[in-house]
Amino acid sequence: MLSSVRFLGVSFTVLCASCGLTPHQGFAQDDFDREPIAYARTTPVNAISRLQERLDAGDLTLDWEPGAGYLRDLLTALDVPVSSQLLVFSKTSLQRHRINPRTPRAIYFNDDIYIGYCQQGDVLEVSIADPQLGTVFYTLDQAAAVEPEFLRQTDNCLICHGGSQTRNVPGHVVRSVYPDASGQPLLASGSYRTDHATPLNHRWGGWYVTGLHSSQTHLGNRIYHGRPDDSSPLDDSGYNVTDLAQRIRTSAYLSAHSDLVALLVLEHQAGGHNALTRAAFDSRSALYREDRLNTELKEPPGHRWESTLTILDSSAQLLVDYFLMRNAVTFTEPVSGTSTFAADFVRQGPRDSAGRSLRDFDLQTRLFRYPCSYLVYTASFDALPAELRQRFWQKMDDVLSGRDSSSKFEHLSTADRQAVREILAETKPGTPETWKPKSSE
Ligand code: HEC
Repeated sequence: MLSSVRFLGVSFTVLCASCGLTPHQGFAQDDFDREPIAYARTTPVNAISRLQERLDAGDLTLDWEPGAGYLRDLLTALDVPVSSQLLVFSKTSLQRHRINPRTPRAIYFNDDIYIGYCQQGDVLEVSIADPQLGTVFYTLDQAAAVEPEFLRQTDNCLICHGGSQTRNVPGHVVRSVYPDASGQPLLASGSYRTDHATPLNHRWGGWYVTGLHSSQTHLGNRIYHGRPDDSSPLDDSGYNVTDLAQRIRTSAYLSAHSDLVALLVLEHQAGGHNALTRAAFDSRSALYREDRLNTELKEPPGHRWESTLTILDSSAQLLVDYFLMRNAVTFTEPVSGTSTFAADFVRQGPRDSAGRSLRDFDLQTRLFRYPCSYLVYTASFDALPAELRQRFWQKMDDVLSGRDSSSKFEHLSTADRQAVREILAETKPGTPETWKPKSSE
């Protein structure tokens, strides 16, 4: 079991250089390894640590099967839908030697957990939104074992998952590259870090994408010989692909899809989790420093420093901007996926008394019908420092009540603002009292 981990360990520097991520240097000195985050030293408490406890106690077993190893049972145990499957064929990640356009890597995800699988892979790769530690990483050895064991990983993953791609916190990576026939990204041609604000025509390079998007263009489903420019002949072979059977052996995966809507959601969500982690780390560090300063300078506990206020304020603003989909792309024509992902996602709710949910899709002109992220329902959001959450709701109130009518929120119509306010008031504890429906008595 250890050999594969050691094997993985030695190859990282090479990996990083060849896939064009700026290696994250010197984590040990990094902010998130100091108090109050103490990233590597703190024992995580999350769905994976709880799963490991159940495995250790014999309350749960994970079945192993040839090919997929523990994958299928792990998805079931963690409530991660198979319909979330995405296939990425660029050699941009950990087990790059297993990945090429014929044998893409598969990624599965739910609101908090992301799982990476490679055919013949040594390990399953897991990243999870941990309420205290931001993103936490694990590997699970894919060799059949009497007692499967998740190994927490830090530097081995942070080398790509803890740098400029992830707001310099332990986070999730989604990229778009120009891959050649072997899946190797043509780095001289450039690459994009993608989230909900990335224009569609820069997205999905190195990914398979099954779905319809009419005449809107993107970089997915294709290999490149160089960066296409205006003089390159138009290659539309990657557009509106609904079946991957010509490109890969779909039976080698749990699903035949790499769903377009799932990919849009992944991009929104990964960026949202990184914003949550950045805001949480900055605010907790500022509050911690303030506490120390007050003790040293014999100020009363709770004495407020201007610098703390500034950080709490900018952290809240970062979250409000992201959660209210500022700068998120709009579609010029409708889009759709091919798997049951959208239906599975929407079914989870919660819904208000009018039947509305922040998970409802639009897919005509934008991703979500009601432009506020469902990430407000996550444990990571609830674990934000109380003062940060309070500021977040104040700012949300300013925008949703129409007091903040600045141009950066002009994408929100009056009806959008009202709908989001009403849905949140009914489905999310802690929202401003003034949002509660007036009693009819
Ligand atoms: C060589 C760089 C690199 C290393 C090292 C790396 N990753 Fe990743 N990872 C990526 C990239 C790039 C993506 C985006 C999808 C893709 O291109 O395959 C990604 C995506 C993921 C995802 C999907 C969701 C997310 O969090 O972005 C998981 C899960 C994941 N990696 C787990 C891990 C784990 C666990 C480790 C350490 C054991 C690790 N990775 C090490 C580059 C890396």
